[in-house]
Amino acid sequence: MQSFPIGVFDSGYGGLTVLREMVRVLPQYDFMYLGDNARAPYGNRSFEAVYQYTLECVQHLFNQGCPLVILACNTASAKALRTIQQQDLPRIAPDKRVLGVIRPTAEMIGNITQTGSVGVFATTGTVVSESYIIEIEKAWPEIRVVQEACPMWVPLIENNEHTHPGADYFVAQHTKNLLSKAADMDTILLGCTHYPLIMDKIRQFVGPHMRIIAQGEIVADSLADYLMRHPEMEARCSKQGKRTFYTTDDTQNFDAHASYFFGEKIQSAFVELNAL
Ligand code: DGL
Repeated sequence: MQSFPIGVFDSGYGGLTVLREMVRVLPQYDFMYLGDNARAPYGNRSFEAVYQYTLECVQHLFNQGCPLVILACNTASAKALRTIQQQDLPRIAPDKRVLGVIRPTAEMIGNITQTGSVGVFATTGTVVSESYIIEIEKAWPEIRVVQEACPMWVPLIENNEHTHPGADYFVAQHTKNLLSKAADMDTILLGCTHYPLIMDKIRQFVGPHMRIIAQGEIVADSLADYLMRHPEMEARCSKQGKRTFYTTDDTQNFDAHASYFFGEKIQSAFVELNAL
């Protein structure tokens, strides 16, 4: 049987923080990353736009042979995953699978909080979808969840402005808002794959006892578990430890930024998506 890489998708660079952990946990597997940088950020876009763009990217990864695609993007997981799984997959690729990042994160969060009060930072799209509230409620009905949309954070990070003092204003403002929503909060979930890059900045504005959770490790462990439980899918994933990177925008720009998210040098190739 022919085998192919696992596809990993994000609107831009954020998914690389997840891929980094997947590579650490599953170094033997091949991964193919696609960042839709030309159309990022997705966070403030309509349901229809996020769905359409995500489907085009998933279709591209399928066309490259990927049997399994991880949406390493909360916004796409919130707005497009269910429709793709339920409506598109049976039609375009019934033997392939698409998984998101929200459910595995929601299923873990109850093991982390002790007070049962969790705050979520995410994009406007993810917050409005209420996906975290719904998924955490399913897994841990007793946990209280409050959310804060941070529409400026992804643009600041994508433009490499997040380390500058100007970014402090937006981080401080949203952190203050989130903390004011639940006095007993002991855990903050970074519900956007870009946000681990400002974890240290967020930490400056919360008390030392607050747990701040990035998704990379959770999603990587969940993928390892999925592959163990689905040997028929596992057998279709190639294992030569290769990573390939594609972007829908300028490759030089991508390579310069991406290494910062991924932690090592990257050489990407350009891909032009054909509208479906
Ligand atoms: N990294 C993506 C997420 O996890 C979204 C970024 C965007 O707004 O495009 O939500």
